[in-house]
Amino acid sequence: MAEERARHFETLVRHLDDLLAPCLAKDWPNLSVERAEGVYIYGRDGRRYLDFLAGFGACNVGHNHPRVIAAAKAQMSKMIHTAIGVTNYEPLLYLAEELGRIMPGNADVFFFGNSGTEAVDGAIKLARYYTRRIGIIAFFGGFHGRSLGATSVGSSKAKYRTGHGPLLPDIYFAQFPYSFRSATPNNPEACSQAALDDLLRLFEYVIEPEDVAALLVEPIQGEGGYIIPPKGWLAELRKICDKYGILLIFDEVQTGFGRTGEWFAADIFDVQPDIVAIAKAIANGFPLGATAARAEIMKAWGVASHGSTCGGNPVSCAASLAVLEIIREENLLANAREQGAYIVERLRELQNNVSVIGDVRGVGLMVAVEFVKPGADREPDPEVVQRILQLALDKGLLLYPCGHWTQTIRLIPPLTITREQIDEGLDIFSDAVLEAQGEKVKLHS
Ligand SMILES: Cc1ncc(COP(=O)(O)O)c(C=O)c1O
Repeated sequence: MAEERARHFETLVRHLDDLLAPCLAKDWPNLSVERAEGVYIYGRDGRRYLDFLAGFGACNVGHNHPRVIAAAKAQMSKMIHTAIGVTNYEPLLYLAEELGRIMPGNADVFFFGNSGTEAVDGAIKLARYYTRRIGIIAFFGGFHGRSLGATSVGSSKAKYRTGHGPLLPDIYFAQFPYSFRSATPNNPEACSQAALDDLLRLFEYVIEPEDVAALLVEPIQGEGGYIIPPKGWLAELRKICDKYGILLIFDEVQTGFGRTGEWFAADIFDVQPDIVAIAKAIANGFPLGATAARAEIMKAWGVASHGSTCGGNPVSCAASLAVLEIIREENLLANAREQGAYIVERLRELQNNVSVIGDVRGVGLMVAVEFVKPGADREPDPEVVQRILQLALDKGLLLYPCGHWTQTIRLIPPLTITREQIDEGLDIFSDAVLEAQGEKVKLHS
C-alpha cells in the first residue's frame, strides 16, 4: 500500500504542470520532501538537507518546533475557525496584546490577515483611507508580495509586473540606496544623499508631497538582494514624512521577528514607522499576517471598511504566541546576532580567497553574498550563482537566490541554528563556491 502510494506520488510529480500553476510549482529546485525538523528538511530521496532558507524566512524558530506544535494542537482541539469580528477569542486578543509590546512605532492596534501581501495591501489601503491622499511612493528593488496591490508597489523584477496590468495607479518609485552598486561605492553618505535627492525630485517633477499618502519601504530589502541602507537614510525618510504629513510604512514581512537580531529592523535603525506590515515568521509557517498601526491611525478604519475571512485564525494566533515565547526564552535575538556575525566573518574570509564574491553583507541572520564576474566592474554573475546553488544542494545544503539579476545568495537559516550547524553549512557553501569558480583549494576554518 505504502509503495503504491509512493509510486502514485512520483507519477503526480512527473505531471506537476497538470495539477499546479507553474508559477507556483516550478521554482528551483522543486525538491520532493517528506518532513522537516529544526534546521533540517528531509527529502523523499532519503537525504537530509540543511535548510538555509527557513521556508522563505518564515520558520525562524526552526521547523516543527515542539512548542509551536503543542500550541497549535491544543487550539485545534478547541476551535479551528469561527468568524473574526462576529466572534472574538483568547489567542487573537492575547496575540494583539503581546505584539503591541514589541512593535515599533507604538503600532499596537492590528488588522490580522493571512499573509504578507495582504498585510501590505492593508497598509496601502489604510494609508490612503487615513490621509485621504492617493499617492504611494515605493522604492526600486522592493518586493512586497503578489496580490495586485503589492505587485503594483513592487519593482524587484519587471517580470513580476508584466502582463498583470493595469496595476494600481498613483504609485511612484524612488531610488533605494544600494551602496555596493552605487556610483560612489564605499561612500554610504553620498549613496544615501543620491537616493534622497531622487525622492525629492519626484516631489518636484511628478507628485507634490501633499498628495502622497505614504512612503512604503522594506527597512532592509529582501527579495531585491538583501540590501542594507546606509545608517541615517531611514531617519531622513522619517523627517520628510513628518514635514509633509506623509505616513511611513515599513514592510517588515521578511525582516521581522528576530531575523535581524532585533524584533524588527526598525529597532536597528531606531526609526519609528507609522504603519507596519508583518507576516512570515509571525507564526512559523502557519498562515498569518497583520497590518499594524498606532491607535490614532488604525481607529480611522471604521467597521467593515476592510476585512478577511480567515485572518487572525485561532490556530495561527496560538502558534504565533508560542513563537514569541520561544524567541524570548531561547534567546534567539542574541543567537541571531552572534551567529550572524560569525557567518559574515567566515564569508569575508572566503571572499578574500575567491574572485567571484563582490560583496558580503548581513544584519543578524539576514546574510547575503553577491556574486560578480571576475575582472569586470561589479558585473552581476547569475550563472555562477546557479552553479553554486546546485552544487550546495548536491552536498546537502538548501540555499536560495535573490537580487534583481538573481546574482545574490541569501543565507537565512532558522534563528535556532547552532555554531556546529553553521560550520556544516558554510563548509558546504565554501566548497560549492570554490568548485563553481573552478578552484581546487579547500578552505575550512
Ligand atoms: C518584504 C516582503 N513583503 C511581502 C512579502 C509577501 O509575503 P507573502 O508571500 O506572505 O504574501 C514578502 C515575501 O517574500 C516579502 O519578502
